[in-house]
Amino acid sequence: MSSDREEAVQSIRATEKGDGSSDAYRGWAKTYDEQLEKMEWAAPKSIVTKWMEHYSPESLQAQAASGRKHRILDAGCGTGLVGEYMGTVFPMDNVELYGGDITPEMLEEVKAKKGNAGYVDLQVIDLKKELPYEEEFFDSVITCGVFLVGHCGPDCLPNIFRVLKKGGLLITTSRKTFYEEAKDDWDKYMKESNCTLLESCDIPYHTLEKGISLVIKKNN
Ligand SMILES: C[S@@+](CC[C@H](N)C(=O)[O-])C[C@H]1O[C@@H](n2cnc3c(N)ncnc32)[C@H](O)[C@@H]1O
Repeated sequence: MSSDREEAVQSIRATEKGDGSSDAYRGWAKTYDEQLEKMEWAAPKSIVTKWMEHYSPESLQAQAASGRKHRILDAGCGTGLVGEYMGTVFPMDNVELYGGDITPEMLEEVKAKKGNAGYVDLQVIDLKKELPYEEEFFDSVITCGVFLVGHCGPDCLPNIFRVLKKGGLLITTSRKTFYEEAKDDWDKYMKESNCTLLESCDIPYHTLEKGISLVIKKNN
């Protein structure tokens, strides 16, 4: 293994030991993008592609024309790779992309990017606590690379569902084994919040782990 790749593997493994807010991300923020590229970090592209299967430029243009843009929360946005990729494949004029993350240093990296990488709002949030947005504020929520060991588990779902509109979608990644081992808990939290799993499928993730995407609807 090249030393560059070995360094990236060690950085990933370090984040799995903490609570996601540990020094692992604080110290990693500046080199995160570069190292993840070495691990062929495909999840941001995978999840935006999945989101676009459900939201077309035409439908969101129509919503914007009727007076309110589609609001998306990228929860656990890190350095903003989801926003950066979305901006290359989707007309951002018709959406408002909000980003939240527990690690301020990761958010600083988003702010250093051109146009804040497409985010109109960036806040420190903790998915394990009530989120600082009004109830049913978002039309859709994306999380990418956040449901995994040492980070967030399905007990964070109610906090996300609270800020999602009825009829809206949570489109998320999880490490495949992490989801499968806690599937009963995912089902329990979805049921308690009147949400339905529409789809789960394998996605390109990164070279160390298999990933899946889940599409969860908050029922009307
Ligand atoms: C693997 S990174 C993914 C970042 C970004 N979504 C991406 O695709 O590159 C995981 C991110 O989750 C954040 N995180 C971990 N625990 C969190 C929590 N409880 N609430 C909010 N963000 C959290 C970390 O700070 C980190 O930025």
